[in-house]
Amino acid sequence: MKRKRISDKMEKALNDQMTREAYQAQIYLSYASWAEVNSFTGIATFLYKHAHEEREHMFKFLKYINDRGGETKIEAIKAPPANPANIGDCLNKVLDHEIGNSTHIDNIVNLAHQEKDWASFNFGQYFVKEQIEEEALINGLLDKYDLASSDKSKNVNFYQLDKDLSAASQEGTLPREENF
Ligand code: FEO
Repeated sequence: MKRKRISDKMEKALNDQMTREAYQAQIYLSYASWAEVNSFTGIATFLYKHAHEEREHMFKFLKYINDRGGETKIEAIKAPPANPANIGDCLNKVLDHEIGNSTHIDNIVNLAHQEKDWASFNFGQYFVKEQIEEEALINGLLDKYDLASSDKSKNVNFYQLDKDLSAASQEGTLPREENF
């Protein structure tokens, strides 16, 4: 039996976040399927890949809780929200979900700081960085969408955007990682 190295409060916060990451995966999965059905195969590919990444986040929380002697509780995942109205709406909603998720991650880091739980503080930093990347990534896609939609007469712009997204990276680039 491992000795428990996180507080009950931290254990609950981490478990809640694990379930939230699973919910994030459901959102990406449902939006991906919506995009595929509506023939945006590129964005569907991008969103399917990202659903997988959110499942990996969920798994990281699971492993961390167990490694620290806590107990993982696998709970029901709520249903994803309604389908978006269009690609712009889809990207805006994804960004809203990511910003909401960043707030939850910040709360965990704040709790770790309050409790002087430096292991959880360190663990949380991975996700702080991840959220910066994800918000930057989706913001970048929204910029591309705005560019593509600025000339309504050119559907070819959307076609190209969709094609580009199928090969788009899942990682944003942080300024500190740029080679100057
Ligand atoms: Fe795991 Fe997109 O947050």
